[in-house]
Amino acid sequence: MTGGRIKIKELLKSAPHSQEVVVKGWVRTKRGNKKVAFIALNDGSTINNIQVVVDVEKFDEELLRQITTGACIKVIGALVESLGSGQPVEVQATSMELYGTANPDTYPLQKKGHTLEFLREIAHLRPRTNTFGAVFRIRHAMAYAIHKYFNDKGFCYLHTPLITGSDAEGAGAMFSVTTLDLNNVPKTEDGKVDYTQDFFGKSCNLTVSGQLEGELGAMALSEIYTFGPTFRAENSNTPRHLAEFWMIEPEMAFYEIEDNMNLAEDFLKYLIRYALDNSMDDLQFLAKMYDGELIDRLNFVLNNDFVRLDYTEGIDILMKSGHKFEFPVSWGLDLQSEHERYLVEQHFKKPVILTNYPKEIKAFYMKQNDDGKTVRAMDVLFPKIGEIIGGSQREESLEKLTKRIEELHIPQKDVWWYLDTRRFGTAPHSGFGLGFERLLLFVTGMANIRDVIPFPRTPKNAEF
Ligand code: 4AD
Ligand code: MG
Repeated sequence: MTGGRIKIKELLKSAPHSQEVVVKGWVRTKRGNKKVAFIALNDGSTINNIQVVVDVEKFDEELLRQITTGACIKVIGALVESLGSGQPVEVQATSMELYGTANPDTYPLQKKGHTLEFLREIAHLRPRTNTFGAVFRIRHAMAYAIHKYFNDKGFCYLHTPLITGSDAEGAGAMFSVTTLDLNNVPKTEDGKVDYTQDFFGKSCNLTVSGQLEGELGAMALSEIYTFGPTFRAENSNTPRHLAEFWMIEPEMAFYEIEDNMNLAEDFLKYLIRYALDNSMDDLQFLAKMYDGELIDRLNFVLNNDFVRLDYTEGIDILMKSGHKFEFPVSWGLDLQSEHERYLVEQHFKKPVILTNYPKEIKAFYMKQNDDGKTVRAMDVLFPKIGEIIGGSQREESLEKLTKRIEELHIPQKDVWWYLDTRRFGTAPHSGFGLGFERLLLFVTGMANIRDVIPFPRTPKNAEF
């Protein structure tokens, strides 16, 4: 408690009592008449406001005039039973202090009805809305639940680097990290950029995934997970892609693909159950405002087994569906979200784990199947989202992995350390990556990934 302050979430759970309480927060609304004013105050601890009742005659007129939507105030008063506010208790103010005004002519968050698009333009203020308060509290709850889940299972949280010299996925463009003077780039004799003069003495980029280093951890600690930001410079302006997003990547020694699928399903269900158990107020608000089926959908995923299906069977279903897809379906196709969503929403009406993808459309490190065509990949596909998890069993054979790296012309000098795990004490192992914001899209029911991260980074947008 600071200065005896009690958070509104706690206050709303208290019974009326005789001691004075101190609340601090931002004014959502003020209404009333010449005699009495009602202030709805919020401090972000909960979606709910506390009502402050003000006997107008007892307060300075100028002070009351300045208490407008968006202003920040401290209130001291009695916690009394409330008859009309929709909450059991309210605060009868005995004194108030104004921390900061918010000029009604310029404060952009007046009472109601802003579009999410408009709120994105004022991402510095949108945490003060009910919607973003709810979303960011759920985001926090999910981050906590992720650490709790893995900690309870004995996984070790491994911090992998954000700056790397390797390309883990081999898909999509990367952001380069350099201190070279871009107006005067040093060149080698054959006209290429001379990275030996750069900060790290070689070309580096922001990581697209912590997996490769995660595998190094798993080959010693046996079960690790990462949870941090990752970066992709792909120019995809979609409601499901960010240039900077957070990823959770567990990596486990001695896990085969089935164990990996079991973990992924259990993990997702745990997180959804955690949200239902701990964030119900916020979920109900979001359900009411944006997505009436949200809570049913969460329960549905919780109560059903995920379908497990071969890529090849999935392609069969899509080809026989008679559905007209924007991207035509044939074996070898890298599934688009329209295909993923068809399987999940139209065909099975359940989450699907798709396995054994063609090796050509998957990363070099995936365990090769005996058919010579497919790899032991697994993508978890969710309603409304499409791919929420991507993972695989890893190729543990040094010989097969080296051959694949050569086929794909990946320079050995970049991955010698990765190959060493196969050279020394190799073991079967598996892992996956959960896109944190994709999870949040599902859990909050929000439709655009820009609305589940406080300060989204997308093409042509890095404000705030
Ligand atoms: O499928 P991806 O590319 O897999 C990997 O990066 C592996 N290294 C993971 C692993 O096996 N350890 O990405 C994993 C997940 C996707 O399923 C998706 O949820 C999310 O990351 N993701 C994105 N989320 C937001 N914006 C983007 N641009 C994303 N790209 C991938
Ligand atoms: Mg993927």
